[in-house]
Amino acid sequence: MQTLIEAGKRLKGRSLLGISDLTKAEIDAIFDISKQLKELIISPADQRKILEGKTLAMIFEKPSLRTRVSFETGIFQLGGHGIFLGPSDISLGKRESISDIANNLGRMVDIIMARVFAHSSVVGLAENAGVPVINGLCDMEHPCQALADFQTIIEHKGKLEGLKLAFVGDGNNVAHSLMLLAAKVGTNFAIGCPKGYEPDANIVAQAKEFAKETGAVIEIFNDPAAAAKAADIVYTDVWASMGQESEAAAREKIFTPFQVNSALMANAKPDAIFMHCLPAHRGSEVTDEVIDSPQSVVFDEAENRLHAQKAVMVLLGR
Ligand code: CP
Ligand code: NVA
Repeated sequence: MQTLIEAGKRLKGRSLLGISDLTKAEIDAIFDISKQLKELIISPADQRKILEGKTLAMIFEKPSLRTRVSFETGIFQLGGHGIFLGPSDISLGKRESISDIANNLGRMVDIIMARVFAHSSVVGLAENAGVPVINGLCDMEHPCQALADFQTIIEHKGKLEGLKLAFVGDGNNVAHSLMLLAAKVGTNFAIGCPKGYEPDANIVAQAKEFAKETGAVIEIFNDPAAAAKAADIVYTDVWASMGQESEAAAREKIFTPFQVNSALMANAKPDAIFMHCLPAHRGSEVTDEVIDSPQSVVFDEAENRLHAQKAVMVLLGR
């Protein structure tokens, strides 16, 4: 418990741009606070005092349901206030430079959350804002999603170490954060993706480095069944991410063999859970049969965005 408290204290004032920013102890501290917030071990009245009077700026270059609602609700429940800044409000880097935006916001708000196209945009915000910046999704990572997802895995499986998470689909931002977090906490990670759609080589190298500490096995297959074999968790995401709309038709054809359907799920353990960050394209990367099955925990993942991100805001933003 003392280690968790110390690790939690170390997060104060820092940014969360990617999973590599966090140590294993800091990740455990986030899970611990998230559980306390979710189970109301910290009462709603006490929660409202934690970030009382603080403001969160929420920058969105892309659409969102879960990220916006969970951050805005989260800061409200912690006693603070969220300001939504959509693409037409500030035009990140177009109306004004990223460093000027960061310098302005840093004079007025206490935390910044940003959903952007380029990873360099969240780096630029963090370098200039003087307040913590939280990555709410970029082209390289979606760290808040991975934190909420691993909290969901703990709830359903009771542990993380030694489990096998199979990600079937594109080696994208969500796959990157899941792989890095798996490596950090000792969960084995296998991706099944078409040739040419593998995860970024630098991220894989980082994950393999983290895995040396925990013994996690990181595997890359071009065969979905090989990835899903004996998995405890089968995860998928859209085949064309936001910003890749022009590639959607071509990707639909390439990724068809990677659909998560009942036949693919049969390769996993009988008690495997199905996960998806949402939004889902039903009938493409996942069938209704799988996403609506008792194995599916997709709405638990969505709910845990709220709790995990509240924990992140508490630890970075106090
Ligand atoms: N999973 C996720 O980030 O959802 P939104 O794009 O709706 O925020
Ligand atoms: N990979 C998807 C995730 C959406 C939450 C995207 O970037 O659009």
